[in-house]
Formats: sequence, structure tokens, C-alpha cells
Amino acid sequence: MSNRSIILGSGSYLPERIVTNAELAKRVETTDEWITTRTGITQRHIAAEGELTSDLALCAAERALESADVNASEIDLVVLATTTPDNTFPATATKIQHQLGMTNGAAFDIQAVCSGFVYGLAVADNFIKAGQAETVVLIGAETFSRILDWEDRGTCVLFGDGAGAVVIQASKDTHDGPTDTGHNRGRGILSTHLHSDGATNDLLYVDGGPSSTQTVGHVRMNGREVFRNAVNNLASIVDETLEANGLSPEDIDWLVPHQANKRILDGTAKKLGLPVAKMVVTVDRHANTSAASIPLALDEAVRDGRIQRGDMVLMEAMGGGLTWGAGLVRW
Ligand code: UT7
Repeated sequence: MSNRSIILGSGSYLPERIVTNAELAKRVETTDEWITTRTGITQRHIAAEGELTSDLALCAAERALESADVNASEIDLVVLATTTPDNTFPATATKIQHQLGMTNGAAFDIQAVCSGFVYGLAVADNFIKAGQAETVVLIGAETFSRILDWEDRGTCVLFGDGAGAVVIQASKDTHDGPTDTGHNRGRGILSTHLHSDGATNDLLYVDGGPSSTQTVGHVRMNGREVFRNAVNNLASIVDETLEANGLSPEDIDWLVPHQANKRILDGTAKKLGLPVAKMVVTVDRHANTSAASIPLALDEAVRDGRIQRGDMVLMEAMGGGLTWGAGLVRW
């Protein structure tokens, strides 16, 4: 019988500094009214000078380990989803591994931009199912503010910094797994679904990189086209996930979407016929934190008691690539 991956705990971290729309309106030609009505965003957190993606990630990972009651010595894999690593190499995940005090196991970064967390969920789940890892820390962390063009009002108002993490552990369906006491029955990651389409690279990208310009570059986006693709791709990934599990929208207790734009979130909920009250929304306060947005939203809803043991939780995201994906979890 194959292993089932159980999410044992979550944690998150937001930088202290909050930047309001009004503050941004002093930097670029925009208004609080435009940003709020077009995106639902009212503020975002921005990392302090010298505060690195690894700092945010470590804090979120430590909080997740604490909530899971898991010791760092039990971890055998660290996966960090990020588009804004501390350095081009080594993988920022290896820094986290060291900072957590781990001397065993493996650590690597994955890059799927805003879809990074659902890609990471698939990676972690498959390592566990294959028996190659037993306890995984999966982190989504970004200092997206570092790759924004602060003169481009079409992008700089949309993003923020932050980190979220989960601890995922193997639990055998046969009840002899390390976390399975019977109490875990039916819990875990039920399925993950990933897609990408490189033909749409030019809709959302960074105009730099080590091989092309030897600079880091800045985010460039065709917002309208990304919006259009998001609405279609997210609706189809949700359908695919429900169908694969023989479920209908009424079976979903919580939708935890990637937080890019409140209009996209509302559109997806509407297509699903899901009441907006069943969707976790943080985009108003966090803006788009790329790979960090889902675990940040998840952690908020777990800690405030909305997400309860046994709930059916659907996560979905779309980002640069374009990449998109979903994960369904029985909490
Ligand atoms: O994480 C996944 C990746 N990102 C996304 O999913 C984002 C997807 N796209 C979007 O969320 C929306 O397309 C945006 C929020 C980026 C833009 O909203 P929109 O309703 O699609 O606006 P638009 O791009 O069609 O622009 C409308 C107008 C333009 O002016 P003109 O050409 O009509 O005169 C823009 O220049 O709004 C202008 N504009 C702004 N005005 C004030 C663009 N950005 C701003 C701004 N403030 N910050």
C-alpha cells in the first residue's frame, strides 16, 4: 500500500513593513481607488533592506515545524518554491537546511513562479509516495519587491513579500505509518495536477538572468492576457481535479487560491458555484506574494480555525510560464 502524504502543520511570516496604496500613489501615477477596484489590494508587506528570502522562509519553516510538533532532525527533504532566491546558486533551500540544523537529507529550490507552491506540493507528495522521503518541509517564499520595476505602475502595485510553509509526512494507508494512528485515516494529499505552456512565456517574465543579460532583471507582464488565461486555466484545473476525485463543487469546504487579483478569485468561485465565504482571501492585505501566497492564506485559515480536521481543501494557482496547477487535500 502506498504512502499517503499528510500535512501536519503550517507556518507563515510577513515582513514588518506595510506599504499602503496611498504610499505607492506618491511614487507612481496611480490611485488607491484604481488599485482597489481593479485588484482588491489595499496594502502589501515589503522586506526590509538586507532581509532575504531565506530569512522569511526560515521563519515560516520554524513556525510550521512548531505547529506540526516535528523536530528538524526528522526532516529528510526541504523544498523551497521561489522566484527570488538569495543568489543564483546555491539553492536557497540548502541555506534553510543548514539554518534548521539539519545535517542529513536533501534540499533544493523549484521555480514555477506563482504556481511554485502547488508544484512543490506535487514534488513533496511524489517523493513521499515513492518512499524517497518521509518528512518534507515545503516552503513558498518570495522577496518579489526586489525584481519589480518601481516605475512601472502596471506591475509594482500588484506584488508583495512573504513566506509560508507546511510540514508533510508519510502516513501509510495500512495504519503502520509514522503518523497514522487511525486518527489520520482518509487524511492527506488526494491528488495534484500540473500544467505549463511555454508558448506563453512572453506574457509574464523577467527581462534578465544569468545566461541572458547577467543582470537580475525586472518583472514584465501583459496583465490583460494573463488575466484572460488565468480565468480559463484555473477553471479547467479545478474541473480536472474534481473529476479525478469523483467530486463536485459542493464537496469542497475551502478554496485556497493563489492570491493575484480579487476579480480572478471571485471569477473562479463563481464558475465553481462556490460561495465566496468558502474561499480564503488574503490578497487585500498581502497583495500577490507569488509562491508564498497559498501557504500564507492556508496558514491564516488554519490558525483562525476556519480550516478544520477532515475538511476538503482545494488549492490552485497560475503564474509565469505560463504554469498552473492544483492540489486537493483532506485536512
Ligand atoms: O500571479 C499571476 C500573475 N498575475 C496576474 O494574475 C495578474 C493578472 N492581471 C490583472 O490582474 C489585471 O490585468 C491588472 C490588475 C494587471 C490590470 O487590470 P486591467 O483591468 O486588466 O487593466 P488594464 O491592463 O486593461 O489597464 C487599464 C488602464 C490602462 O490605461 P488605458 O490604456 O486604458 O489608458 C493602464 O495603463 O489602466 C492603466 N493602469 C493603471 N492606472 C492606474 C495600469 N496600471 C495602473 C495603475 N494605476 N497602477
